[in-house]
Amino acid sequence: MQNFDYKTPTRLIFGKESIEKLPSVMAQFGKRILLTYGGGSIKKIGLYDRVKELLKGYDIVELSGIQPNPKYDPSVLDGVRLCKEHNIDVILAVGGGSVLDCSKAIAAGACYDGDPWDLISYKVKAQRALPVVDILTLAATGSEYDTFGVISRTETNDKIGYGDPLLYPVASILDPVYTFSVSKKQTAAGCADAMNHTMEQYFTADTTLLNDGFCESMLRSLMVNVRKCLDNPEDYTARAEFMLCCTYGCNGILSLGNSPSGWPCHGIEHALSGYYDITHGEGLAIITPRWMRHILSERTLPRFVKYGINVFGIDASLPQQEIAEKAIDATYRFFESIGIPMHLREVGIDDSRIDEMAQHIADNEGLENAYVPLTKQDIKEILMASL
Ligand code: NZQ
Ligand code: ZN
Repeated sequence: MQNFDYKTPTRLIFGKESIEKLPSVMAQFGKRILLTYGGGSIKKIGLYDRVKELLKGYDIVELSGIQPNPKYDPSVLDGVRLCKEHNIDVILAVGGGSVLDCSKAIAAGACYDGDPWDLISYKVKAQRALPVVDILTLAATGSEYDTFGVISRTETNDKIGYGDPLLYPVASILDPVYTFSVSKKQTAAGCADAMNHTMEQYFTADTTLLNDGFCESMLRSLMVNVRKCLDNPEDYTARAEFMLCCTYGCNGILSLGNSPSGWPCHGIEHALSGYYDITHGEGLAIITPRWMRHILSERTLPRFVKYGINVFGIDASLPQQEIAEKAIDATYRFFESIGIPMHLREVGIDDSRIDEMAQHIADNEGLENAYVPLTKQDIKEILMASL
C-alpha cells in the first residue's frame, strides 16, 4: 500500500431542497457574487429564479453561456475580467461540470495579475483563489468534490485538466431533483464518465481489497441506476444514488493507497474533445473497451478476471482469458445498451487527424508512465481501433 496525504475540504449538502441552505452558505463570503451558468438549462428548470430569490440583497454579476468543454476564450477570460472589475468575493457556479470547471479556473485567475493561462498550463502556481460554491445540475464529472477544472483552448487544441488544492469548491449543493431534466444522451455520457473515473483507479498495479470493493460496487451501482434514470428520469432514488456515485468518482477517495494509473483513457479523450469538441463521456465510452483490449496481457489478466467476475458476474470457473474477453465485451455492450455511439465516426471523427492527435497525447499526457505505458504508436492503434 502506498503512502498518501489526503484532504477534501468541500462541504457536501445533499438532498431534496438542500438549496434552502444557500443563503447561509453564501453569507460567509461577502456580498459580491459572480453567478456563472451555461446555455440556459437552469432557467428552464426554474433554478435561476430560485437562486435570485434566495439571494436578494446580494450584488450579483452574471457570466452566462459557458459551453460544454468550457473555453478559455471567452469564458475564463471574461469571468476573470468581471471578478476584477466588480471586486467579486465569491463565485456561485450553477450547472454541470463545464460550468464548475470554468468557475474554478476563473477563481484562480481572478487572484493573479498575469495571463490566467500561466496557471492552467502549470507555468505558475496559484497563490490564492476566490471561493467557489456550486449547485450541481448534471451528475457526471465529480467536479463538485474535486480540485480539477478542465479547460479547452481552441486555437491550440489543448484541453488541460488544471488541478490545485485551492480549487476545491467550498460547498456543493446537490439536489438530485435538479438532474431530472438532464437528457438521455447526457445521462448516459455522465454514467460513462463516472464509470471511467472508477476504472482509471481500478486498473492499476497496486490496489487493496478495500479499494477494489469500493470501485466494483460503484460500477455496479452506476450501471443499475443509470438504467432506472433513463427509464424514468424523475426516479428520485435512482437519480440520488447515481449522483452520489458520480460525486465520489474523481477526488481520489476510491484509490487511496493504490499506485497511480496515469488515467490513460482521460489522457486520450481530452485530445478528442480538444480537437473535435465531442461530449467527454461519449469519447470515454468509445475509447475504454479498445484501450482494455490493447492492454490485456499476461500481466494485466488477473485485473480483468476480477473485474469480469465482480462487476459483470461472469462465471468464475471459465478459463481466465475467456473471462477477461467477456468482461471487455460486456463493457462495450453496456455502453452501447444505454444509447452511446460506440465509434469515433459516429461522433464526427475520421482518421485524418489521428496521427496528429496521437502525437499531441504522447507529448502532453505523460502516458509513458501509465499502468500499462502507452507510446504514440499504442495511442494510434487504440484510436484506429475506435474508428
Ligand atoms: O449549458 P446548459 O444549458 O446548462 O446545458 C448543459 C450542457 O448543454 C446541459 N445540462 C446541464 N444540466 C442540465 C442540462 N440540461 C438539462 N437539465 C439539466 N439539469 O448538459 C450539457 C452538458 O453539460 P456539461 O456541464 O458540459 O456536462 P458535464 O457535467 O458532463 O461536464 C463535462 C466537462 O467536464 C470535464 C469534461 O472534460 C467536460 O469538459 N471534466 C471535468 C472533470 C473534473 N472537473 O474533475 C473530470 C472529468 O473527467 C471531465 O474531464
Ligand atoms: Zn471524466
